[in-house]
Amino acid sequence: MNAPLVFLHGSGDNKRIWRFQIEQSGQALDLPGHGERADTLSADALIPEYAQAVYQIIQDELKLERPIIVGHSLGGAIALMMALDYGDELGGLILLGTGARLRVHPALLAEALEAPERAQRHLVEAALVPEHIPAFAEAILQEQGTPKAGVFYRDLQACNMFDIIPRLHEITVPTLILCGREDKLTPPKYSQFLAEKLTGVKQEVVLHVIPDAGHYVMREQGENVNEAIADWLAANLHS
Ligand code: COA
Repeated sequence: MNAPLVFLHGSGDNKRIWRFQIEQSGQALDLPGHGERADTLSADALIPEYAQAVYQIIQDELKLERPIIVGHSLGGAIALMMALDYGDELGGLILLGTGARLRVHPALLAEALEAPERAQRHLVEAALVPEHIPAFAEAILQEQGTPKAGVFYRDLQACNMFDIIPRLHEITVPTLILCGREDKLTPPKYSQFLAEKLTGVKQEVVLHVIPDAGHYVMREQGENVNEAIADWLAANLHS
């Protein structure tokens, strides 16, 4: 299906985290300071600045009409902010392992500042269902590479400061929500909350809590995620 999907990765990741999704449809982009993209954000940038940067990349490089923003974790926060700031120009939202408020544990924030590589490993391991660590952790860490100075900390700090709970009703774009049942970093409760509070969306807000998956649901259950996205697109692109 040729849908205008734009995939946004989470903290410390880059576009490679989506490689099983973009085989099916869409394009993934590196956020500023990640993967191959130069850093254009200030050291204290928050989610609105990330959202503006992504909006500009979509305008200047991807040149897509009514993009559907697919966001994981930090990327989901950016997607939600884009729906608030540029909602009229979006075709929809697909949110994975995210929430309307994303507080980060202070110990993880401190470690991200002092020892980013170690913090990145801790986060990846906490993100996966323990039985999935042998199969996925090293591959994800290798794809992430060495974090650029300050960028991983900025990602987490932007999440930590993010809270659009009072504004969720303002979002009107069609939305699909996916979450790993065993996600400890953004538990299913956060996704359930989104599904209940997105009261401004006219279409049914579809929520799938996917078994045997943690925070990296798109890798731990890649086929199920792709199927859920394809089904939702088939129902929504033609309605
Ligand atoms: N959607 C719905 N409910 C939410 C929410 C969201 N996005 N974010 C928080 N809440 C709820 C919590 O479940 C909690 O409910 P409870 O009082 O019924 O238990 C309440 O709001 C307050 O939670 P929180 O804002 O997280 O503050 P806290 O002081 O209880 O905990 C932390 C702060 C940092 C200890 C906690 O958020 C945590 O352990 N976070 C670690 C997860 C992490 O680092 N994730 C990385 C994301 S990139």
